[in-house]
Amino acid sequence: MNISQLRREYTKTKLSKINVNDDPVEQFSIWLNEAIQADCLDPTAMIISTVSENGFPSSRVVLLKGVENQQFIFYTNYNSRKGEQLNSNPKISSLFFWPELERQVIIEGTAQKTSAEQSDTYFKSRPLKSKIGAIISPQSQPIDSRNVIKKAFVIEAAKHIGQTVKRPVNWGGYEITPNRIEFWQGRANRLHDRILYLKESNSRWKISRLAP
Ligand SMILES: Cc1cc2nc3c(=O)[nH]c(=O)nc-3n(C[C@H](O)[C@H](O)[C@H](O)COP(=O)(O)O)c2cc1C
Repeated sequence: MNISQLRREYTKTKLSKINVNDDPVEQFSIWLNEAIQADCLDPTAMIISTVSENGFPSSRVVLLKGVENQQFIFYTNYNSRKGEQLNSNPKISSLFFWPELERQVIIEGTAQKTSAEQSDTYFKSRPLKSKIGAIISPQSQPIDSRNVIKKAFVIEAAKHIGQTVKRPVNWGGYEITPNRIEFWQGRANRLHDRILYLKESNSRWKISRLAP
């Protein structure tokens, strides 16, 4: 198949400086709600990019689990590859793509661990099997076979019959404090709308339009 000829026109709607919210986090919440209402698949899935000590970026999908106090929250294993990278460099980029709405949002900022209390609260709300999975998976480490984690899962699950499961200290949340948020709305003829919010030194958001 000649993929160079795969294309579609984006004509759903438009975006302008006049009709966006002054606050990009509010604007994000509006778009996220619209993505949920539109039955987008995995509306909270975001691609986060982190940077290694050698300056190499790496990306992967995680799920947004909250937007609180102007911060974007996700949960993961602190010893994972992303966790190690965030340890040495907290700069992060996070990208949402909602194809059904012809929309993209890019959030750049810095990530820091959520409080232990907050991680505990979210961990408690997870299904039991997800909790066990979080405990036994040495995320991002090489393992000999799938059997290794299957066995570890069964052994760990047996230990917790009728008991509460405590959050492992190496698993928890990150909250992203944004300093740049861009909203992209696909338009006809590739003349897309791009509205950028940049955090200024006085903590106000400056809004501008970018060329597509
Ligand atoms: C739809 C989807 C949702 C995911 N959600 C999470 C998540 O919330 N947290 C997480 O640690 N990994 C999640 N993953 C797995 C990550 O993409 C990734 O494989 C894992 O975190 C290890 O990444 P790392 O080795 O770069 O640290 C998800 C993957 C997909 C495709």
